[in-house]
Amino acid sequence: MAERAAIVTGASSGIGLALAHMLGSEGHALTVASRRPEKLEPAAQELRDAGYEVEAVPANFGGADSEAEVQKVVAAHRDRFGRLDVLCNNAGVGIGAGVGEIVTKRMDIQLNTNLRQIILFYREALELLKAAGAEHRNALVINTASISGKRAEAWLNIYSATKYAVVGFTEAMNKELNGDGIKSTALCPAFVDTPMTDFVKGQVPAEKMIQTSDIAEMARALLKLTPGCVVPDIVFDLPGSGVLGATPA
Ligand SMILES: NC(=O)c1ccc[n+]([C@@H]2O[C@H](COP(=O)([O-])OP(=O)(O)OC[C@H]3O[C@@H](n4cnc5c(N)ncnc54)[C@H](OP(=O)(O)O)[C@@H]3O)[C@@H](O)[C@H]2O)c1
Repeated sequence: MAERAAIVTGASSGIGLALAHMLGSEGHALTVASRRPEKLEPAAQELRDAGYEVEAVPANFGGADSEAEVQKVVAAHRDRFGRLDVLCNNAGVGIGAGVGEIVTKRMDIQLNTNLRQIILFYREALELLKAAGAEHRNALVINTASISGKRAEAWLNIYSATKYAVVGFTEAMNKELNGDGIKSTALCPAFVDTPMTDFVKGQVPAEKMIQTSDIAEMARALLKLTPGCVVPDIVFDLPGSGVLGATPA
């Protein structure tokens, strides 16, 4: 059995891939999951080439059958690695629309991907997380929320609502599970240079955005905290936020 193991969702690019590299470098065997297999497999290979043990599980959390997809990921992880020290609930999607123009299907994709699957991952992974928590009191769940979970945005109304919910669910999980040695942290970044922000790179240059390495390094620090220290959320802001005129992602 691996000495440490982690699940990272949305690991095929951006923040999730950076988190997976960081966790691999800290000795974790990895299960990576995301929607498109043709994008996930090269990312998984990149991680294997870096020397990490990797299980890749394509899974779509945006549909009505997301429960089965979450169960599939956790089962594949349990079968291969047998333990879970870190769960990164990172997959997410933002689809902008004014409230009068909301398309139900797009609303459901965001609610399912950004919120529902996170709740299901906690439930399905709880036994494994509790076993790790009982062993070392430092089982960790990292939930990628957003600055939009701290200050809501027009047009990104549903996205903002889901990210506020992630911050709230993270707080509830700390109250519920800290006693089991399971700590949760919500990451709340403004614009990060990933494919998700390609749409805005004409106004905010990529090099002026937060980098995925910034997120990964803060997450690395979370791994090294003593069991007595819980960090409920971390806000990553742009310098002089507002000066750039940037709409937070
Ligand atoms: N970039 C930012 O400025 C920013 C700021 C704050 C928070 N965030 C959050 O950071 C997280 C990661 O985003 P990112 O910026 O790294 O963007 P990204 O590179 O586009 O990554 C998004 C990841 O989520 C996966 N994903 C999306 N929909 C999915 C679905 N229905 N089922 C399974 N996987 C799905 C994607 O897989 P596919 O590509 O195959 O769909 C991809 O692996 C998201 O939760 C996002 O809301 C991003």
